[in-house]
Amino acid sequence: MKYMTGNEIREKFLKFFQDRGHLMLPSASLIPQDDPTLLIIGAGMAPFKPFFTGKVKPPATRITTCQKFVRTGDIENVGRTARHHTYFEMLGNFSFGDYFKKEVIPWSWEFLTKELGLPGDKLYITIHTEDDEAFDIWHNVVGVPEDHIVRLADNWWEIGSGPCGPDSEIHIDLGPERGCGKPTCGPGCDCDRFLEIWNLVFTQFNSDGEGHYTPLEHKNIDTGMGLERLACIMQGVDNLFEVDTVQNIMKKICEIAGVTYKQDEKKDVSIRVVTDHIRSTVFMIGDGVVPQNEGRGYVLRRLLRRAARHGRLLGVREPFLYKVAETVIHENESAYPELVQRRDYIVKTIRVEEERFARTIDAGLDQVNSILEKLSAEGKTVFSGEDAFRLYDTYGFPVDLTKEILEEAGMRVDEEAFAKEMQAQKDRARKARGGEGYMGAAVTVYDELPTDLETKFAGYDVDTVVDAKIVALVTNDAVADGAQAEDSVVV
Ligand code: SER
Repeated sequence: MKYMTGNEIREKFLKFFQDRGHLMLPSASLIPQDDPTLLIIGAGMAPFKPFFTGKVKPPATRITTCQKFVRTGDIENVGRTARHHTYFEMLGNFSFGDYFKKEVIPWSWEFLTKELGLPGDKLYITIHTEDDEAFDIWHNVVGVPEDHIVRLADNWWEIGSGPCGPDSEIHIDLGPERGCGKPTCGPGCDCDRFLEIWNLVFTQFNSDGEGHYTPLEHKNIDTGMGLERLACIMQGVDNLFEVDTVQNIMKKICEIAGVTYKQDEKKDVSIRVVTDHIRSTVFMIGDGVVPQNEGRGYVLRRLLRRAARHGRLLGVREPFLYKVAETVIHENESAYPELVQRRDYIVKTIRVEEERFARTIDAGLDQVNSILEKLSAEGKTVFSGEDAFRLYDTYGFPVDLTKEILEEAGMRVDEEAFAKEMQAQKDRARKARGGEGYMGAAVTVYDELPTDLETKFAGYDVDTVVDAKIVALVTNDAVADGAQAEDSVVV
């Protein structure tokens, strides 16, 4: 196994599949096109959903890409561990009604063991419990011994509604010293011993997002391999913050903050948060996401503000993220030339958001910290909902941030009281408007909705799908109990 840079791995992968008849496409935008079930592109296959279902004819039946994507479901863990991050690049090869298991399984083995030189005896395979066909190919065609193949019931892949199916994952054994030592430890265990590197999805069903699956007309392949993870293995480092393309971003942060990585665990957390979040935000802004208070604009704003706060924890008082953004662009310019074209815009957007937040953060943080000290001294662990609301209402201090700071101190916000305060404020605003509609506008059907309806954005806790109860319907501009075909409905 020979050292390879992130850029070399990306090129090798794409070339391997181009040599096998695949059309190489550039990464799609992080903003999903015509897919209301997704907030941000969170998988290599996401831009291709219509090709899998047959709704749109693909430009080729074999495609390969390196797709950038952002996943924020685990955002609280980013920084705390060395393996969580929100920004990824996914190497993938796709078949739309073309090849299936008997081609893709041997190719994946060939790429890992021959092209990259990974030791075959360290690779473990998981398959869906009922997938005898995959077992047969792995065992009898590729030659993987039976004790390296594990059947798991949750080997199934889907994102939002749309194409999905059973999958087979390739894991690498990083050695017992990285493991939990439990007798049950194996691929799929939560510990760090077996690292999943590649997921081969046998996309053969369509999901309506409500638990109903129908077979797709054609069988397809969707594979995804995290570039940063693979780079860790090829570069012999144990975490993605140390791979070549990421390391330079981290170095830049350390240089600006005057700190050294791996000297102080608390500072390391902040260095990792900033390193990860600045990557996500540069790519999001490059694709046209703007900081806002809801939807994907809020995901961006939350990432930027979280990064800004961790900059403060590192002792940086001035806006600095925009400078790190320059390094992110430089490190990625060969694979993503569009970042260079949009450099000025990206840097300026980050700077404006940083400056705006700087005014909020200092006043808010001082307040949070003094309340925290008082609570600690009194041996209390619950921050009052009224205080959290005042911080939000008076200083614009995001409640997510208040919660995070408290959590770090082993405390929590009284969320119920916070929600009550929010509601009371809404009611006051409504009263103040008298008979008028929202913000003094003409009365609309929305003013007829019950006052206790609350909007709760769930996009940062779940990837794309959330169970919800419909509480009101507006049909043809009137609050209604139901709807007929052809009605225009707001849920
Ligand atoms: N869709 C699968 C994943 O994201 C394989 O590409 O893991």
